[in-house]
Amino acid sequence: MDYQSVYDAITGRHSVRAFTPQTVEKDLILELLNVAARAPSGTNCQPWQVYVVTGDKRDQIVAEVCALHDAARLDASINEQHTESYPYYPEKWISPYIDRRRENGWGLYGLLGIQKGEKDKMHEQHQRNFRLFDAPVALFFTVNKVMGIGSKMDIAMMMQNVMIAAQARGLATCPQAAWNHYHKVILPIIGAGEDEELVCGMAVGYADTSATVNTFITPRVDASEFTHFVE
Ligand SMILES: Cc1cc2nc3c(=O)[nH]c(=O)nc-3n(C[C@H](O)[C@H](O)[C@H](O)COP(=O)(O)O)c2cc1C
Repeated sequence: MDYQSVYDAITGRHSVRAFTPQTVEKDLILELLNVAARAPSGTNCQPWQVYVVTGDKRDQIVAEVCALHDAARLDASINEQHTESYPYYPEKWISPYIDRRRENGWGLYGLLGIQKGEKDKMHEQHQRNFRLFDAPVALFFTVNKVMGIGSKMDIAMMMQNVMIAAQARGLATCPQAAWNHYHKVILPIIGAGEDEELVCGMAVGYADTSATVNTFITPRVDASEFTHFVE
């Protein structure tokens, strides 16, 4: 096996937050999803549903969620109505995770010239999430609500496969949990059943290589710091 190509696809992937309008062929999306679906899942349940959203439906989701996200700045009750589908982050953060989170946030904002306290600019950057960073394709991954928490592991593995396969095909991606707050808006538009839960969204398209935001490459802790050889 040419391991270097596999390593290159994994290490070359990063979250892209500016896309060109170039469309992605349906066949290519299906190809990626067929490759990605080789992901392992507990007892091979393959608990994922994937909604590939483009065109008018994509635009409708972007318009409705952007309007709500804007309106929530003036009316806090909107955020109370639109809570995330499941708690992704802890209620109470601890070190070192909070430190890495802050480093990541300020690294990105720094690159975009956003200073502490510049709330309008921060809101605009959040809003770019809900414009899919201009990507032409949104993927929404859902799971049946009867499935256990482990199914989210299965779906995460499948999502990682999508991102690596996309990378190998010259496409770019950004996983987006931000959408989970607006599951009540999104699920009816994409035609998901009431028994489905939104696990994550993902922007897919071609990277705008001229965009500064796409030069943001995040660091990683060396494996020696989190690995425990137990002999
Ligand atoms: C499940 C998941 C959800 C994420 N949600 C968002 C999101 O809503 N918006 C965003 O800009 N980035 C999002 N990210 C991207 C992370 O910020 C990014 O993966 C992390 O900073 C590491 O950077 P890299 O992906 O470029 O290696 C998400 C990543 C994961 C794994």
